[in-house]
Amino acid sequence: MSAAPFIEAASPHVMNTYGRVPIALSHGQGCRVWDVNGKQYLDALGGIAVNTLGHNHPKLVPALQDQLSKLIHTSNYYHVPNQEVLAKKLVELSGMTNVFFCSTGLEANEAALKLARKFGHDKGIERPEIVVYEKAFHGRSIATLSATGNPKIQAGFGPLVEGFIRVPLNNMDSLRAATANNPNVVAVFFEAIQGEGGIHAMHPDYLRAVRQLCDERNWLLMIDEVQCGMGRTGKWFAHQWAGITPDVMPLAKGLGSGVPIGAVVAGPKAANIFQVGNHGTTFGGNPLAMRAGVETIRIMEEEGLLVNATQVGAHLAGALAQALKTELASGSVKEIRGQGLMLGIEDLIAFG
Ligand SMILES: Cc1ncc(COP(=O)(O)O)c(C=O)c1O
Repeated sequence: MSAAPFIEAASPHVMNTYGRVPIALSHGQGCRVWDVNGKQYLDALGGIAVNTLGHNHPKLVPALQDQLSKLIHTSNYYHVPNQEVLAKKLVELSGMTNVFFCSTGLEANEAALKLARKFGHDKGIERPEIVVYEKAFHGRSIATLSATGNPKIQAGFGPLVEGFIRVPLNNMDSLRAATANNPNVVAVFFEAIQGEGGIHAMHPDYLRAVRQLCDERNWLLMIDEVQCGMGRTGKWFAHQWAGITPDVMPLAKGLGSGVPIGAVVAGPKAANIFQVGNHGTTFGGNPLAMRAGVETIRIMEEEGLLVNATQVGAHLAGALAQALKTELASGSVKEIRGQGLMLGIEDLIAFG
């Protein structure tokens, strides 16, 4: 057994931004992880929706080792061949057309917000406005926390970025009323299933109605699939359950199985908004991240992980309902909800 772990409530040198549990993990295998004292855990968190293939995957690890020994990073001054391979695959899976690569979810969302604003400016709208949602979470940069619908995340960071109109989920009347006679609206932006906000799904009928409204008004439909995408719900992207296609789709988290990666996938309405020099990032699309993305999707397809998410998710939801039968009956657990392996339990203690 290894020496006692270095675990402190607050590290003297790392900024105190996380309320950490007193566990230090040393290694993992599949869906299990072990701490530095050898105690085993079932990893239900998956690195906050990141570890799509589990830990130490026998196909992913050698592929990444191979990539590490070739090239980790070059820069976007040169072509990175796997950018085209991964972009082509994402285009095929999404029914969209072009991809911009970055490194995190907030970066993907920043790029989406910039796309929406430039979409407006290109149409002669000088002060573009974007519809966002109550309880949404889009990241912690100044723009994405302004789009986020959680006052706790915004507190202390004002002034917030302007140009957002906030509406409740699943309510077409509110969306119509909030945007009525407003020529500055350029986009509607939401998560197909809110993750950090508490596993709140957009209803398929609502998704279809918003798609139609965006078409009628020439707005961009932008769906943040950073957390609910990449197969977690049993489809590649959660909005696909409603049979719609967005104009802009930010991705991150599960796309790289733990190697930092982000992507903004765009359809024809948004694919040519950015021109040379409009946007960029040092790390985005680097050879290591691209290899991780290509291998993640290849292995997901080989191993049938979408079907797995549906089947294991249904099993888990059923087992949770059984285990929490008494609490559900008494009302101390309000609901078990979600789709596939994106599940949440709402109890009165956490949300009361
Ligand atoms: C829906 C959604 N969008 C964006 C983000 C931000 O991603 P990142 O932490 O990689 O910046 C998150 C993170 O939890 C998320 O759940």
